[in-house]
Amino acid sequence: MDYRFSGNSGLQLPLISLGLWHNFGSEDPYDIARDMLLHAWEKGVTHFDIANNYGPAPGTAEMTFGRVLREDLASHRDEMIIASKAGYWGWDGPYGNGGSRKYMIASCDQSLKRTGLEYFDIFYSHRYDPQTPIEETMQALVDIVRSGKALYVGISNYPADKQKEAYDYLHAAHVPCVLSQYKASIAFPETLVNNLPVAQENGSGFICFSPLAQGLLTNRYLNGIPAGSRASKNVFLRSEQVTDEVVARAQRLGAIAARRGQSLPQMAISWLLAKNVTSVIIGASSVTQLEDNLQAINNIHFTEEELNLIQA
Ligand SMILES: NC(=O)c1ccc[n+]([C@@H]2O[C@H](COP(=O)([O-])OP(=O)(O)OC[C@H]3O[C@@H](n4cnc5c(N)ncnc54)[C@H](OP(=O)(O)O)[C@@H]3O)[C@@H](O)[C@H]2O)c1
Repeated sequence: MDYRFSGNSGLQLPLISLGLWHNFGSEDPYDIARDMLLHAWEKGVTHFDIANNYGPAPGTAEMTFGRVLREDLASHRDEMIIASKAGYWGWDGPYGNGGSRKYMIASCDQSLKRTGLEYFDIFYSHRYDPQTPIEETMQALVDIVRSGKALYVGISNYPADKQKEAYDYLHAAHVPCVLSQYKASIAFPETLVNNLPVAQENGSGFICFSPLAQGLLTNRYLNGIPAGSRASKNVFLRSEQVTDEVVARAQRLGAIAARRGQSLPQMAISWLLAKNVTSVIIGASSVTQLEDNLQAINNIHFTEEELNLIQA
């Protein structure tokens, strides 16, 4: 594994980080989740991305991670960067969603309990909340750091103007935004244009999620929608998104990847790393997928011709 500094900070992150949004909840097989975490760890993946609502059921991905840490990796805590977030729905009522100080701090406390951690390395505001003054959300992040519940803070999914406001507030409070998290892939490149430059100009690291467009940039759907796949669950990736055109594009991109000696998911991850982002957060449902994806770091250089073909 190679590591890159996150923005202007002294924090280094692995080129590939592992996310626990899917396949690590109480409804997923624990042994597979544990095997993936241990495999990633052995391969130098030191950064694990979680959130209060990851499961299913919501919150249980934090419990799975906490159990593996406790039972298998406890002595390695100081070699890891563990992130959690609050911002989307966490519980019913007016204090379980958004960016209020009440929600941010209560959710951070709950996440610490579920993981069994004393502190998070990075705690994020998961989304911009237009109903809460941005100063309130940012001050909650600052106070989470000041009270020892997190070492660094991050933001995710903020529109570019609010992204800049967040950086300015955090900078003035001497708790700079270490990392900004956005969806980015060959299929969804917009944030690389709209948000990556803002992060770079303000000294924040930039980490991409859903680099494989939740599985569309792989060979997962070339022969229909397999049982157990994300599209088969029809929640975050819906079956109607797997159109003939999407599958045909995956096949054409797969041919470019093959000429580079890569699988399509490897090329999709390499393509992001070539954009000079800090790290790419992958998801996986098996050790085989994870191992396939981790090989992406071995070929992150693209010719102009390859970039043009991908674009086309
Ligand atoms: N900040 C935010 O708002 C936000 C939002 C979304 C995600 N995230 C973070 O980003 C992480 C990654 O997101 P993601 O899971 O959507 O990422 P992704 O890498 O785009 O998609 C992962 C899915 O693609 C399929 N896949 C992965 N490798 C494969 C391979 N080699 N061959 C075939 N299929 C493969 C698997 O689907 P199957 O399950 O069908 O096998 C896997 O679950 C999340 O876990 C979370 O930590 C953050």
